[in-house]
Amino acid sequence: MQDKKKKVVFSGVQPTGSLHLGNYLGAIKNFVGLQDDHDCLYCIVDLHAITVWQNPNDLKSNILDVASVYLAAGIDPKKSVIFVQSTVPHHAELAWILNCITRIGWLNRMTQFKEKAGKNRENVSSGLYTYPNLMAADILLYFSDLVPVGDDQKQHLELTRDIAQKFNNDYSNFGGTDFFPIPDPLILDESSRIMSLRDGTKKMSKSDPSVMSRIEFKDSNDQIIKKISKAKTDPLPIPSNINDLERRPEVNNLLLIFSSLSGSKLNDVLSDYSGKQFSQFKKDLSDLLIANIEPIREELTRLDNDQVFLREILEKGTDEAMKRSNINMKKIRDIVGLN
Ligand code: AMP
Ligand code: TRP
Repeated sequence: MQDKKKKVVFSGVQPTGSLHLGNYLGAIKNFVGLQDDHDCLYCIVDLHAITVWQNPNDLKSNILDVASVYLAAGIDPKKSVIFVQSTVPHHAELAWILNCITRIGWLNRMTQFKEKAGKNRENVSSGLYTYPNLMAADILLYFSDLVPVGDDQKQHLELTRDIAQKFNNDYSNFGGTDFFPIPDPLILDESSRIMSLRDGTKKMSKSDPSVMSRIEFKDSNDQIIKKISKAKTDPLPIPSNINDLERRPEVNNLLLIFSSLSGSKLNDVLSDYSGKQFSQFKKDLSDLLIANIEPIREELTRLDNDQVFLREILEKGTDEAMKRSNINMKKIRDIVGLN
């Protein structure tokens, strides 16, 4: 049941491959911490995934994998609504209405589209181009207040705010100037941008061809140790001053991961390790990663053997999300003049 006094939190993850440490520290860990004091909806955004072709069998299993990671990482279905985007058709319906609000010039500024389309701009799907409108629909459909995401989603959030504002203005005589709340992004500084273990200037990403670039939830302890021992560093020792990390992106990244997992300030991590060689630091970082990932991995294995339970959770999530989106969509249709 929705608690009207609590702020509404909405976020989503695409079921497009194995989730990694960047997803965890930038987003999912943050989702878990919000559950007690907020009214949270956590979505598996399969309609976003198909903006780029997905093998249907892989997509189906990736959807269940994201749901398992949500649960294993500590999202509690008694507190939060966990559901699959395509099971609530109102997301696509509102996205269409928002297609008619968003200006083409706004979409043309989206850097994620430019990066994903690259030189192939004329030949990517039109869904990839209007992707941010669907994301805005996800958020606005539940009148969300807060959206926890990694830094790469900041621009999409700003666009969502512009879309909400324009809708409110365009229909101010019908829905009022504050019909849609203007959602705030929730982006944690330290962990909002976890970089590749092979190249500190590139984001850790599901699509990087090298699995050595990322720590995945399904990695064994030995794989974690191997990936960290092979993680790129440089010949200098660990510095004592944060400013000395500026031109050392790989070292900066490893220290940030340590700080984020341990909950200690970057300065404190530096004073513990300054002047030391990387071998000791990397050993401690592997231990810390294992302490965080091993319990999640074990829970994932358990859930893998209990697909009935997983599907039950998702069905309940759909029912709850539908109940809310149905009421909200009726209001939206009425304001726009569609019924
Ligand atoms: P995606 O896998 O693209 O659906 O991303 C799911 C969530 O993880 C989003 O909130 C992203 O911003 C976040 N995320 C993805 N990669 C990283 C990263 N390397 N560092 C921090 N957050 C990330
Ligand atoms: N675009 C987000 C990503 O790639 C996923 C997403 C879709 C999302 N809809 C959302 C995130 C709504 C937050 C809120 O990571």
